[in-house]
Amino acid sequence: MQDKIYDVSPEWSRRALLDDAGYRAKYEASVKDPDAFWAEEAKRIHWFKQPTRIKNTNFGPGTVAIRWFEDGTTNVAYNCVDRHLDTRGDQVAIIWEGDDPSESKSITYRELHDEVCRMANVMRNRGVERGDRVTIYMPMIPEAAYAMLACARLGAVHSVVFGGFSPDSLAGRIEDAQSKFVITADEGLRGGRKVPLKVNVDAALDRIGSKLVDHVLVVRRTGAAVNMEPGRDVYYDEAAAMVSGDCPVEEMNAEDPLFILYTSGSTGKPKGVMHTTGGYLVYTSLTHQYVFDYHDGDVYWCTADVGWVTGHSYLLYGPLANGATTLMFEGVPTYPSISRFWEVIDKHNVSIFYTAPTAIRSLMQAGEDPVKKTSRRSLRILGSVGEPINPEAWEWYYRVVGDGRCPIVDTWWQTETGGILITPLPGATKLKPGSATRPFFGVKPQVVDADGKVLEGKAEGNLVIADSWPGQMRTVYGDHERFVQTYFSTYPGKYFTGDGCRRDEDGYYWITGRVDDVLNVSGHRMGTAEVESALVAHPKVSEAAVVGYPHDIKGQGIYAYVTLMAGEEPSEELRKELVAWVRREIGPIASPDLIQFAPGLPKTRSGKIMRRILRKIAEDEAGNLGDTSTLADPTVVDDLVTNRQNKR
Ligand code: WTA
Repeated sequence: MQDKIYDVSPEWSRRALLDDAGYRAKYEASVKDPDAFWAEEAKRIHWFKQPTRIKNTNFGPGTVAIRWFEDGTTNVAYNCVDRHLDTRGDQVAIIWEGDDPSESKSITYRELHDEVCRMANVMRNRGVERGDRVTIYMPMIPEAAYAMLACARLGAVHSVVFGGFSPDSLAGRIEDAQSKFVITADEGLRGGRKVPLKVNVDAALDRIGSKLVDHVLVVRRTGAAVNMEPGRDVYYDEAAAMVSGDCPVEEMNAEDPLFILYTSGSTGKPKGVMHTTGGYLVYTSLTHQYVFDYHDGDVYWCTADVGWVTGHSYLLYGPLANGATTLMFEGVPTYPSISRFWEVIDKHNVSIFYTAPTAIRSLMQAGEDPVKKTSRRSLRILGSVGEPINPEAWEWYYRVVGDGRCPIVDTWWQTETGGILITPLPGATKLKPGSATRPFFGVKPQVVDADGKVLEGKAEGNLVIADSWPGQMRTVYGDHERFVQTYFSTYPGKYFTGDGCRRDEDGYYWITGRVDDVLNVSGHRMGTAEVESALVAHPKVSEAAVVGYPHDIKGQGIYAYVTLMAGEEPSEELRKELVAWVRREIGPIASPDLIQFAPGLPKTRSGKIMRRILRKIAEDEAGNLGDTSTLADPTVVDDLVTNRQNKR
């Protein structure tokens, strides 16, 4: 079948920062002489001391060490706020749109400076210093941005934990980061419903037990009465009223940590992905400008939560480094009506809109009317991130949301990569629905087979990146060995992404999804091992195996096979109890969609669960199980096939 191709429109060739020849020239330069290329691009940010050493990276085998701009000094908050005061102090930095459409506000760069300084002073007065880890567990309110930037200003390392995570998940992350300072809100507000953030923090801190956390800063969002622990908890507004709106910036080395962000892998507990200062800022700023063809005057809206990497790199740091106006939305796409996204676009004249395929697929179900009744004339560019976008959703996004006028940038990247690695550029790249297209400057993707052989031309295999780029993660917090093992041991000397991919005859990349035991549920990463360990923690569960299956809206759904303890009987009630249990243990995003009670799991004679078989059954491909001769007890498969659960 011939892929559908959308050419760059004449209007776009005229207005864009780069055309195709421009892209090719810049890409060639970037991979031919990375030192020269990145020395030049580094000038886009302000350095207190200019870097003279540009790239110093080693993917092993042996030592893995990644350093960029290592003798330069700078400060991320200075670049995102202070630097703009002279030229755009009165320009809006953040448009905040509340959960309820009657609530919104605009924060100028000057106001942002004042707010960030206050937050930083409040933290500093309570002992936060350079290098300290600060956990941020917040709803989508401007204070979340102030808190992140305040950490950057002081040189403290933030660890943002998504507000949908459970007290247990939060506790694990606070402990792993050894963070003594927590910033939260009384409650969050999403889709008219309250999220008990402070209650969750209290529960998490009870669980941690020790005296690890000295201070909890509580932003009042709903005004709910919450428990305030004397000596530990303080309301932000009260503390902020007592400090000044000026606070010096810390001069940071390019390789000083900026943040830790926990993300799921195929095994074990979530890893603390660590990003540093200089390279991350240069990379997010550069990608934000070119991928979204950002020009002064644009209103840019990324719908991601600050709890995910997209919220770090493309809601906050990239756009603010570029002096952009970035929109932060507290709510959900369907509240109070299914037209909410499009209404927000009209209300604030959004020109660049960046969201996830899962949102598109769910809104698509309601048909075109809720979209068509809005104008969307301000839109110029649409973006997609987080999971593969199926061609049907792409076409709908393009045709209905963008009225066929707006290029779609399907951006492939990961928490680990810090910024976008494979993507179209709006004025340069012909689009093929479902393809992330071509590498960004400085990025060297390769397709390899299972043995690591590099495949040329048209090929399908696993996606690796052959050399470093400035936005890359530097280590797993507190466990460099795990970093090396996870990303550099499968294909020694190369960064292994965990994704499968295909490259077509035009050199376009098509990401086919994870090849490891990581699920992507509505664009959220989830380790099968995490869900399994939550399930077996239930007293009635003896064993559990979790796999993904295709889900129309979520992309992937969570399918759990559960073996009960002897004497326990399967029931609908127990099924519900187990779903609620996992929600409580990890958070709602980890809720199993389907649970199948299984008397036995397919295992090899050495006792290893054969996930391949479980995946096939969950995908309803039982006719295609492959070789089952190594099973210890082949009869368990018949029972599994017979009792397969159907998609809801
Ligand atoms: C998947 C999100 C296809 C991929 C920024 C990757 C995508 C994982 C795309 C990282 C895309 C992200 N097309 N797949 N445009 N973007 N992915 O760490 O499997 O939350 O490995 O980072 O999402 O998810 P993460």
